[in-house]
Amino acid sequence: MSRYRKRLVILISGRGSNMSALLEASDNGTLAADVVAVISNKPGAVGLDVARTAGIPTEVVNHQDFSSREDFDRKLYSTVSHYNPDYVALAGFMRILTSEFVAPLIGKLINIHPSLLPKYPGLNTHERAIEAGDRDAGATVHFVTEELDGGPAILHARVPILVGDTPDELSNRVLIEEHRLYPQALALLCEERIHLVDGAVLLDGDPIPKGGIALTDFGVSGKA
Ligand code: GRF
Repeated sequence: MSRYRKRLVILISGRGSNMSALLEASDNGTLAADVVAVISNKPGAVGLDVARTAGIPTEVVNHQDFSSREDFDRKLYSTVSHYNPDYVALAGFMRILTSEFVAPLIGKLINIHPSLLPKYPGLNTHERAIEAGDRDAGATVHFVTEELDGGPAILHARVPILVGDTPDELSNRVLIEEHRLYPQALALLCEERIHLVDGAVLLDGDPIPKGGIALTDFGVSGKA
């Protein structure tokens, strides 16, 4: 277990409810990290106000000010680097990132995605899971690589799909689990129990299953 609190930068584009869950975990001591900055690509992101109210430094790198993804990613990287983070958490950050940003942060860059990866990368995950007749949906925290939602999984939470579920109803129940899942995954990272080694995720030095560890294995309720 590391003796110092890690430095965490959070990237958002919207309401930032996962960001809020991380801020709360940082405050109540379950996450051994200080959130040193919240950065948004959208000036109007609601989560920016939440972060400011919590006294967290905020920045906006507006993607509309850049003529290419690569230029945006270079600026984003320099902005993030300024805060010298141990980890960078994407929390509803709705931009596809290029290697300009991802490559130098491999092993430090984490995302939460609302599906049981590798199922349903990209958008409309709940709708797709319902349409496919799946019995379970969920969310996955994973290391980010250059493949969209394709990096190695760390932790997942499973949520049953109920008869007659709409995408919104399912999304609301999955979100409750996301708010447990993301702080727990970051806590494992910040305690240096999880590492990415040669593309494989190790927990306490041992490889974990491909879809990540189940949240319930950490004694965290799996019921939404
Ligand atoms: C969450 O469902 C997250 O999994 C996905 O985008 C959504 C963001 O929600 N990547 P919020 O901004 O954290 O409330």
